[in-house]
This record gives sequence, C-alpha cells and structure tokens, in this order.
Amino acid sequence: MHNGIIENFHSLRQSLLADGVEFTSETDTEVVAHLVASAYADSGDLTRAMQDVVGTLEGAFTLLAVHADAPNTVVAARRNSPLVVGLGDGENFMGSDVAAFIGHTRKALELGQDQIVTITPDSCDVINFDGTPSEGKAYDVTWDAAAAEKDGYDTFMEKEIHDQPHAVRDTLLGRTDENGQLVLDEMSITEQDLRGISKIVIVACGTAAYAGMVAKYAIERWTRIPVEVELAHEFRYRDPVIDENTLVVSISQSGETADTLMAVRHAKELGARTLSICNTHGSTIPRESDAVLYTHAGPEIAVASTKAFVAQITASYILGLYLAQLRGGSFGRNAAEVLEELHGIPAKMSDLLGNLARVKEIAYFMADTRSVLFLGRHVGFPIAMEGALKLKELAYIHAEGFAAGELKHGPIALIEPGQPVFIVVPSPSAENGLHGKVVSNIQEIRARGAAHW
Ligand code: M6R
Repeated sequence: MHNGIIENFHSLRQSLLADGVEFTSETDTEVVAHLVASAYADSGDLTRAMQDVVGTLEGAFTLLAVHADAPNTVVAARRNSPLVVGLGDGENFMGSDVAAFIGHTRKALELGQDQIVTITPDSCDVINFDGTPSEGKAYDVTWDAAAAEKDGYDTFMEKEIHDQPHAVRDTLLGRTDENGQLVLDEMSITEQDLRGISKIVIVACGTAAYAGMVAKYAIERWTRIPVEVELAHEFRYRDPVIDENTLVVSISQSGETADTLMAVRHAKELGARTLSICNTHGSTIPRESDAVLYTHAGPEIAVASTKAFVAQITASYILGLYLAQLRGGSFGRNAAEVLEELHGIPAKMSDLLGNLARVKEIAYFMADTRSVLFLGRHVGFPIAMEGALKLKELAYIHAEGFAAGELKHGPIALIEPGQPVFIVVPSPSAENGLHGKVVSNIQEIRARGAAHW
C-alpha cells in the first residue's frame, strides 16, 4: 500500500526494467513493491528491506508492506505523509489518522518523520530510516468512538453535514474567561510577539484555503493587519516576502497535508512565526508549528470537507478577535458582540439543516446538469468557490465559482438559457451595501435566461 508520490520513480523504474523486471502498471506504487521484493530477496527481513528501499526514494510517502508468507507482520514507513499506529490488546492497527481505528482502541502511537514501524498483533517496533531505534510517542485519543460511526445516517458525509452546529459550538467552547475576554491557552506565541505582527499569511489547500479567504475579510477588518491567503503549494515554490513579524497561519483538517506542511517549514526557515489551525490532535503540522488553535469538529471521515470548513472559519474568527483584543484598537472593544453573534450561529445552522426538502427537490431537477456556476461577493466569493469545489468533487459536475462583480468582465458569456447559477446573497442589513449589487447581478443573469428556482 502506498500513499503519496515517489518523485524519482521514473529513473527507479528504468533501472528495474533494465534488470528484467516486468511491470503490470505505470504506477510509482508498483515500482516500490518491486524494490521491496528485491531488497527482501537479499536480506530475508521485511523491515530491513523497507529500510534499504526508503533510502532510495524521493518525495512524500507512506508505505505499507506485508509478506504473503507472514501476514501477521506489517511494516510501514513514512516521510512527510500521515501514518499513525493504534495500539490494541492482542491487535495493532495502522491508519492515516486515528479515525481509522478508534472503534477498536483509544491508544495511539505518534510517529516522527522518516521512521519505520513494524507491527504484529502483540508488538510494535519503531526505527528511524538510518536503523537507529526509536520509541514513538504513545497518547490517548480523546475523540469519542461514537464520532467515528454513522449514527443512523447513510454516509459519513451526511452525518458530518449534520454535525456542523456541534463543530461550531465546540470550537467556540471555553475560549473566554469570566470577564468575557478571549483566552487562547494553546497560544504559545507571546502576547508581545503577537502585538508586533505586521502581516498575516494564511497557507492552506482546497476547502481549507477557502476558509482562509473567508477569514481574511474578518481578520483585516478587526485587526487592520494585512492578510494574504495563499495556496500552500504555490507559497512554498516562490520567494514570499516574510520576516519575523509575519504570522504564517496554516489551516488544515488533517494536519498532515504535505503541501501545507512544506509551506509551514518554508515559513519557519524564513523566520516567520507559525500558527496552525487544525482539527487533528498530535498531527504533524501543529507539532511543527509555534502555536496551535484546535478546531473541535471531531473526526471528519468523509473525504469531502464539511464540518471542518465551518470549524476552520470559526477558529480563524476567534484568532482575529483575539488579535484585535490584544492590539486594543477600536474593534477590540466590540469583540464581545461578535462573539455573541458567533454563539448564535449553531442554532441558525440547525434550523437550516432541519429543513432540507427544498435542497433535495433542486438536486432532483439538477441531476443531469452538465455545468453549474456559483457567484458571490465579499465572503460570499470564497463560499461560491467552495460550493463549486463540492459539486465537482461529489457530483462530478463541472462547476465554477466567480466573484459576482467579475461577471461583466467575461464570465457573463457563459450564461445561456437554462444555465443553473447559484448566488450567495449577502444580508439586506449588511453595512457594506452589497445586497443591492448582488440583486442587480441576479437581474442581469435572469435577463439572459439562466435557470432559477
Ligand atoms: O486536511 P486538509 O484540510 O489540509 O486538506 C486540504 C484539502 O485537501 C481539503 O480541504 C480538500 O480540499 C477537501 N477535503 C475537499 O472537500
């Protein structure tokens, strides 16, 4: 089993081909399997074979190998890719996160980078890639085992969508003291250093990056600190303007996304302070960051991110309010009001989730749609992009998210009769007056015959 990418697989494959090895696929995974088989033929020891092979690999990977003659022994290796061991009674487990085994055991073993672990039902041995022994770090998983069950829903994703009010509520929990002041216990960057922050860069991928884009609007407004949001894989390959007064905030549900991890390391090399907003305790990104703000969404098992997204926005808002409070600007004094509004969100979410009949009806009519557009302004813009991502990922329907103001600069050409368009409409009471502008956008696209419900 292999997770990740072996970057030098082509040259490794060429030398195996030259040795007469026959391949049944074009994958990098098969290259590793042949390498392990060949190393095992030399040493007769699977752990040793794994150790010999990982030394030749470039990239980020988790590998698991089993010998057909010894099915009770599993050897695994990790480099910049997730792997955690579950320690049971007469049984041990491996998974990319603890959700894979919390139904069986709450004891887990955290592995470091570049380590190899060999498990049998009764033993668990860890070594570093260079062969020196290591112990790993055992810990108790605090997630409730029931959280990894479907709870009567057909899919984990459906369950996790309905978990959203809890995810927001739990992420807000215990963040204030008796005077209503935000207190972030996990924040190990000093208050003085946080006061000196002159720029924030949020790094993340996919849904987590859209959460970061939502957060940018709020954090800038509340703190007056400039905030940039950058896809982690773009950030790490350029020369960003970063110094010790920059706070690089990574957002990640799993805490193991290789691109985000590399961006955090890059930021540290450049001298920035790093803070991780993460849902998975003990995962690599928070471990390697200067500070962490955990989202308390519980395990997100479905691949598509749902409850983690709303928890990430909540945690980012808490960070923004905390910075505003610390810096004492005019907004710092209003933080309590915003917090109160945030506490009201779970109930609103529950109301919405209690009435999905209309959503199901629209989905029924759209089942054969080939392409969908999502439009939004201000925070509705990243929400539109997240909507498009979800539709692509889950329904395999082509979808694009645009800033509604951009419509007249090109995308309006796509609006033909019958084209479905979802529009995120800001509240009529929003101070920025964007409600009216979005309503004009709706009139514009209706005039072109877009489908509407
Ligand atoms: O675990 P992470 O939050 O770092 O994952 C980042 C993205 O891969 C993730 O948000 C992805 O875009 C979503 N699962 C899509 O629904």
